[in-house]
Amino acid sequence: MSSIQSPPAGWFKAPSGSERLWIGIAMAWCIVMTIAMPYWLFFGKQNSTGESYRVTPAAFAKRVGTFVESHKVGDLQGVPIVEPAPGGDAYLLARMWQWYPVLKLRKNQTYRVHISSMDLQHGFSLQPLNMNFQVLPTYDHVLTLTPTSAGEFSIVCNEFCGIGHHLMTGRILVEE
Ligand code: CUA
Repeated sequence: MSSIQSPPAGWFKAPSGSERLWIGIAMAWCIVMTIAMPYWLFFGKQNSTGESYRVTPAAFAKRVGTFVESHKVGDLQGVPIVEPAPGGDAYLLARMWQWYPVLKLRKNQTYRVHISSMDLQHGFSLQPLNMNFQVLPTYDHVLTLTPTSAGEFSIVCNEFCGIGHHLMTGRILVEE
C-alpha cells in the first residue's frame, strides 16, 4: 500500500474569514516591500554604490597591511587605530572573528572604504545606524562613506560565521 494517496474529492476549501484577512495583509506587505526596494535604491541615503572589484584574500591583506603601516595613529585593545587621509581610501578586513583595523574618520569627509573577507561570508553591520552590507572573500567592495555625526560606532557581524561569530565586533571612530 502506498503512503501517498490522492486527497479526497472536494478537499479544497477557499480561504474565508480571518484566513482571508491574513493572506490579504501578507500580500499587501509583499507589495509594500517590493516597491520599497527600488524606491530606496534611488532615494535612500545609505546605499551601496555597487562598486566592487575582484581581489584575492592575499592581495587584499597586503593592501590592508600597507594602509595600517602608513596611517596608524594608535591602538585599541591590541587592534591598530588607523586614520586615512581625509577624502582618501580606507581598508577594512573581515575575518573569523575580527574587523581589522579600527578606522578613525573625520566628520563630513567622504571616504572610499574598501571591505573584503579573508575567509568566508561576513556581514558588515554599522551600529547604531543599522547600515548593512555583505562582505565576501575575493571581492573588494567599495563603500563611499561620509560620516555626518561624530562619535564611536560599532561594527557587528550579522552573518553567522562560526563559533566566534558573536565576538566579531569592530569600531569606527568619527571626530569633528
Ligand atoms: Cu563574521 Cu559572523
